[in-house]
Amino acid sequence: MRPRRLPFGLDYIKETVLAYSRAANAGAEINELLWARDVLEEYMSITPQHAIIDPLREVVSQTTASILHTADPHPRTPYLRSRSEQPTVSYEQLLKLAEYRRSVRWFMPDAVPRHLIDKAIEVAAYSPSACNRQPFEFRVFDNPDLVSKIIKLPMGTSGFGHQVPALAVVIGKQRNYFSERDRHLIYIDGSLAIMSFVYALEVQGLGSCCINWPDIEDREQKMQKLLDLQPDERPIMLVALGYPDAEGMVANSTKKSLSIMRRYNFEEPSPPAPAQSERNPAQ
Ligand SMILES: Cc1cc2nc3c(=O)[nH]c(=O)nc-3n(C[C@H](O)[C@H](O)[C@H](O)COP(=O)(O)O)c2cc1C
Repeated sequence: MRPRRLPFGLDYIKETVLAYSRAANAGAEINELLWARDVLEEYMSITPQHAIIDPLREVVSQTTASILHTADPHPRTPYLRSRSEQPTVSYEQLLKLAEYRRSVRWFMPDAVPRHLIDKAIEVAAYSPSACNRQPFEFRVFDNPDLVSKIIKLPMGTSGFGHQVPALAVVIGKQRNYFSERDRHLIYIDGSLAIMSFVYALEVQGLGSCCINWPDIEDREQKMQKLLDLQPDERPIMLVALGYPDAEGMVANSTKKSLSIMRRYNFEEPSPPAPAQSERNPAQ
C-alpha cells in the first residue's frame, strides 16, 4: 500500500499467524511456508508495538525456528520488477500465437513427453488467482486405458475422443475459499490457469482442446469415483492434448469484432472492424 499504513491487518493478523503455525506443524509445502515466513517476519519487523500484534511475535519466531531454513537471497516480499528483465515478447508475437492457436481435435498417436506437459503447468502456475490461493490441480492422464475411460465422461468428445493421447482434468478445490459467496472462484481461477496452460502447450508444438464439464449428477459421481475426488473437489474442465495431426483440420471459428466486444464509457459503438476473413491468416 502506498503510503504504507502502520499498523495494518489487525483484523486478520492473528488468524494468519496461527495458520502459519498450523501449516508449519502440518508440514505444509516448503515454498508456501517460506513465503509466509518472509512476509510475516517483515510484517513483525516493521510494525510498531501493538496490543493485538505483540503476543503474536513469539509465535512467528517459534514457528520460523521450527521450519527448515534455506539460504534464500531473495525474500518473498514485495519487490520492484527489474526493467532489464522485462520479456521481449512483442504484441505481434502474442497476437500471432492467439491467432494460430485453435482447438485441435485430431492428434498423432505419439505419446506426449511428460516434461512438456509439466513445463506448460509451470507456466499455468503463474496465472493470477483470487488472493493467490491457486485452488486448482492438474490431474493428467496419459495411460491409454485411463484416457479412454475418462474422456467418455464429459459430453462433447464423441467422434474424436478415441484418438486423444493425453488428457488433463483440471480440478478446483473449494476448501481454498471459506465463504459460500466465493464458490465461483475455483472456476475463474482454474480457467485463467487453463488458458496459460493451453498457450504454453501451443508454443511447445502441442495442440489442445478444452472440453466442457457438464453439471450432471450422474457424471459428477462417476468422475468423483474414477479420480477418487474429495467431496469439495470439482472438475472445472478437461483439456485434450497431443501432437496435432497435420492432416487434421481445425474449425475456422470466427471471433467477434472489436466493435462488438468492447465499449468505452457510454460512447456509441465504433464502426465495424474489417471482416474476419481480411485479418484471418487462414484465409
Ligand atoms: C469451457 C469450454 C468448453 C469446451 N467444450 C468443448 C467440448 O466439449 N467439445 C469440443 O469439441 N470443444 C469444446 N470446446 C472448444 C470450443 O468449441 C472452441 O474453443 C470454440 O469453438 C472456439 O474455437 P477455437 O478454440 O478453435 O478458437 C470448449 C471450449 C471451452 C473454452
